[in-house]
Amino acid sequence: MLCGRRHPFCLWLWLLLLLLLPPPPGARGHGDHARSRDEAAEADSGRAWKAFQRLREHLRAAGALSRRYWALFSCRLWPEACGKDEEAPARPLGWSLPLLGQQYLDILTTWYCSFQDCCDSGDCRIINNFTGLEADLRVRLHGQHLARELVLAAVRGYLELPQPDKALALSFHGSSGTGKNFMARLLAENLFRDGLRSNCVQVFIATLHFPHPKYVDQYKEQLTGQIRKTQERCHQTLFILDEAEKLHPELLEVLGPQLDRQTLENHRAKSPRSIFLFLSNLGGSVINEVVLDLLKGGRSREDIRMENLEPHLQAEIVESTDSGFGHSRLVKENLMDFLIPFLPLEYRHVRLCARDAFLSQELLYTEAALDEIAKMMVYVPKEEQLFSSQGCKSISQRINYFLP
Ligand SMILES: *[C@@H]1O[C@H](CO)[C@@H](O)[C@H](O)[C@H]1NC(C)=O
Repeated sequence: MLCGRRHPFCLWLWLLLLLLLPPPPGARGHGDHARSRDEAAEADSGRAWKAFQRLREHLRAAGALSRRYWALFSCRLWPEACGKDEEAPARPLGWSLPLLGQQYLDILTTWYCSFQDCCDSGDCRIINNFTGLEADLRVRLHGQHLARELVLAAVRGYLELPQPDKALALSFHGSSGTGKNFMARLLAENLFRDGLRSNCVQVFIATLHFPHPKYVDQYKEQLTGQIRKTQERCHQTLFILDEAEKLHPELLEVLGPQLDRQTLENHRAKSPRSIFLFLSNLGGSVINEVVLDLLKGGRSREDIRMENLEPHLQAEIVESTDSGFGHSRLVKENLMDFLIPFLPLEYRHVRLCARDAFLSQELLYTEAALDEIAKMMVYVPKEEQLFSSQGCKSISQRINYFLP
């Protein structure tokens, strides 16, 4: 893009331009779908820039008038900044403005807010709904009391820091189907209006995005480029790295500077915040072993504490030989802020997942159907048959067998 809409000067150019154009097609209101809104905004931006070139001369003449509009416009969008600006008029709106100007102001505000930041938080794309997150983790994520507490506390603590000097890095560990991806999704949905589709959120899947070791140099550029672009777009970002144990060591390496403490050179009003989630199966088996031992020793699942697991998990990750993850700078230099264990799921948890799958499709279910589905899973270890080997994976497909 030639001129970023975020930059105050560019915004001012945009404003000038818009005042001299007929009402833009973008003034069609708030109802549009988020994605198409972004695309429309991009297209508008291209067209508008061309028109701008033609109108350059007219704009010069309109400069003085536009300063007034700018003051009114910015007042309407950012009322809290309004009083401090001496350019801002004493009375907010409609005061000695020609009728046409007032109309333009309305149209402009609608148009601008249809794709840009006009919320209390300063950016509508970012919602940080901790109440929603807490409720989702309590009601929809099953059998993960440790992950639930740790993630909520870590994310909330980080996002409430006035001046974070590094990204937050959380490393999710556990066998498949235990809810690592689901947790990532719940975070995306409660922190960003558009959830995983938000342009502030990026998902990288090692085997999908970075499959061939020989292209690692290209991948490094892609990864850092995408991270940088996303961070330029949004002052709060979420990056999800799935199958982290399969990431090439050099890719892990380029993430180092992100997660390391940085001295803030340019003090911005809003310092940027990034959350990195690393999802992997590493340590899954050691978590399962420890949990099995504790349960057999009579401990109740909810009484298992982080202290019981962390030393084992840490050791297992560092010692893992088949993955670069444990040997990466990220782990060795303690750049991961928290290791988050996901416990193996039991029969009762699988039943709850089945129930959720029915409810989410607004289908009626019977207790018998939930049992049937839970029984379809394989339980390990052979002797105790305590943990679902696939966790809650593909439960939503399995309910299809029980539909009328
Ligand atoms: C937060 O999420 C909850 C549950 O999803 C919802 O009821 C509530 O309206 C949300 N709050 C805000 C401020 O969006």
